[in-house]
Amino acid sequence: MTNTEIIICSDVDELNRKAAEQFVALARQAIAARGRFAVALAGGSTPKGLYSLLATGEFSEQIAWQQVHLFWGDERCVAPDHAESNFRMVKESLLAKIPIPSENVHRMAGELAPLAAAAAYERELKEFFSPLEKNLPRFDLLLLGLGEDGHTASLFPGSSALNESARLVAPSYVEKLDAHRLTLTLPVINHGAQISFLVAGKSKASIVTEILRRETGGYPAARIQPARGQVTWFITQDAAGDLAMS
Ligand code: 6PG
Repeated sequence: MTNTEIIICSDVDELNRKAAEQFVALARQAIAARGRFAVALAGGSTPKGLYSLLATGEFSEQIAWQQVHLFWGDERCVAPDHAESNFRMVKESLLAKIPIPSENVHRMAGELAPLAAAAAYERELKEFFSPLEKNLPRFDLLLLGLGEDGHTASLFPGSSALNESARLVAPSYVEKLDAHRLTLTLPVINHGAQISFLVAGKSKASIVTEILRRETGGYPAARIQPARGQVTWFITQDAAGDLAMS
C-alpha cells in the first residue's frame, strides 16, 4: 500500500499527541489553502483522548476553530444526549471546551429514522462540499477507529452499507449488536485527502496483524484505500503485535 504510513507509538499518550500534531498541521494547511478544514470524526472510545488533548490550551490555541468544520464518520441511531451517542462523546471531550461556532458542528441526526437521517446528512454534505468533485465530498481529514472484527466507522463485515456505491451516507444495522447505525460510505471515505486510523490496546493486535502484516483482504478497514489520499495508522505498541518487530 504505497500511500500508507504506519506510526507505532509507545503508548496511547504518544498516539494522541502525534495525532493531535497531525490535526494541527493539516488544519493550518487546509485553512491557508481553502479557508476551511473539514474533518470527519471517529466514534467509539479510542479517539476520546485525542479530542480531550485537542481541547487543551496547548493544542486548541493553535487551531483556528472558526474555520474548522466537524462532521462524523458514523453515529449510533440514538438521541444526541444518549450514552451511546458519538456526538455526545465529542461534545463532552471537545466541543464543550473549544470556541467553535455551532454552525460548524455537523452532527448526524441519530434521533431520526435511519433512512431519513442518512438522507438528511447526505443533503448536508452535498450542500457544504458543493461543488462536489465526482459527486463526492472531499474531507481534508477523516479519523477512523478499528474494531476487532475489522470494521471501521460503521462499516461492519457483511454489512450492506459496505457495498453502497451511490449513497454518501447509509444506514447500517449491526446484527451482533442489534443496533442501527449511520455511516459514511466507502466512496466518501476513499475520496478523502488524509485518512488516519487510531488504534490502541492489545485486543487489536490480531486484526492489525491481519490487515497490515498479512494484508488479508476483505475486512472493511482493509478496503480503505484512497485513490488520491494518504493513510496514516497511529498504532500503540501493544496493538501493533508483531508488526512492531518488522
Ligand atoms: C463507533 C466507531 C467504531 C469504532 C471501533 C473501535 O461508532 O464505535 O465508529 O468504528 O471506531 O468500533 O472502537 P474503540 O475505539 O472503542 O475500540
